[in-house]
Amino acid sequence: MNIGHLQIKTNVFLAPMAGITDLPFRIIARPFGCGIAFTEMISAAGLIRNTKKTMRYIESDPSDRPLGIQLFGNEPAILADAVKIVEQHGVDLIDFNMGCPVKKVVKTGAGAALMKDPKLAGAVMEKMRKATSLPLTVKIRSGWNARQLNALEIAKLAEDSGFDAVSIHPRSADQGFSSRADWSLIGTLKQSLHIPVIGNGDIRTPQDAARMINETKCDAVMIGRGVLGNPWLIANIVSYLNGGETFVPSLAEREALIIRHLELSVKFFGDRVGVRDFRKHLLWYTKGLHGGARFREKAGQISDMAEAIQLMHDYFC
Ligand SMILES: Cc1cc2nc3c(=O)[nH]c(=O)nc-3n(C[C@H](O)[C@H](O)[C@H](O)COP(=O)(O)O)c2cc1C
Repeated sequence: MNIGHLQIKTNVFLAPMAGITDLPFRIIARPFGCGIAFTEMISAAGLIRNTKKTMRYIESDPSDRPLGIQLFGNEPAILADAVKIVEQHGVDLIDFNMGCPVKKVVKTGAGAALMKDPKLAGAVMEKMRKATSLPLTVKIRSGWNARQLNALEIAKLAEDSGFDAVSIHPRSADQGFSSRADWSLIGTLKQSLHIPVIGNGDIRTPQDAARMINETKCDAVMIGRGVLGNPWLIANIVSYLNGGETFVPSLAEREALIIRHLELSVKFFGDRVGVRDFRKHLLWYTKGLHGGARFREKAGQISDMAEAIQLMHDYFC
């Protein structure tokens, strides 16, 4: 499929997830065939201030392509400047976050809060469009709350502003992750827009992905929580959608992948942060496995790489 002029090989996308889809995780996920992966949301204002922490979020690697950088903010001029900075870093696409319900973001009027102000949302997207020739996408929720379900209005504004695709996680911001995502809204957007629609929310199995595509006719599916501890899901979805087989990784394959992920994490974040930050991944990777509870108790305390590798070796042996 195409998003603007960008050719994308598979219609299975890795969702942006703060604290998770960092460079190490994206490098791990790439060989499983995700069509495109995204950075976590990055503050447009932080980018302009050129803070060290913010600039780390846009670091990439030749194997980490095609890459979408996700920005959040609500001031047209700042977003336009941020887009220009991102463009200089040679990325493939820029995604605009209009779906984040987290307090520290919405209290600034950004993320999902911007959906409450369609006029400003339109102005931001128009400025972003004028600032770059890169493909632009926007990621939205169904609206702010049950009384303000204006996803279609915002999606049309994105299309009219010259954006190249819309991703939708069809829950309102005040729903967080509760109840079920309303996939019918993905279908409504698909019927009403000319640009590609990317469906997101509650895909946990290859069958879920096929069902979303059948029910909504969306152009691509985007997977978030389903890949935690299970990046193989991407390969299984790609295969299933193409009529192929799915597989369960062996224990040896799991161990090798976890160690590689850990090594990448330490290389990127340094020994201390890299290992500490990896604890959550260890918990996800071993969820539901035999003897996992005891392993997880110890995994929650590891503090250096040698200890982590020994613990995994003992467990997988
Ligand atoms: C820990 C976590 C962090 C997230 N961070 C972001 C983010 O930075 N930007 C964004 O657009 N969505 C973010 N999301 C939302 C996901 O991209 C996705 O829309 C949501 O999880 C629903 O898809 P799923 O059911 O496949 O998980 C995050 C979700 C989780 C669980």
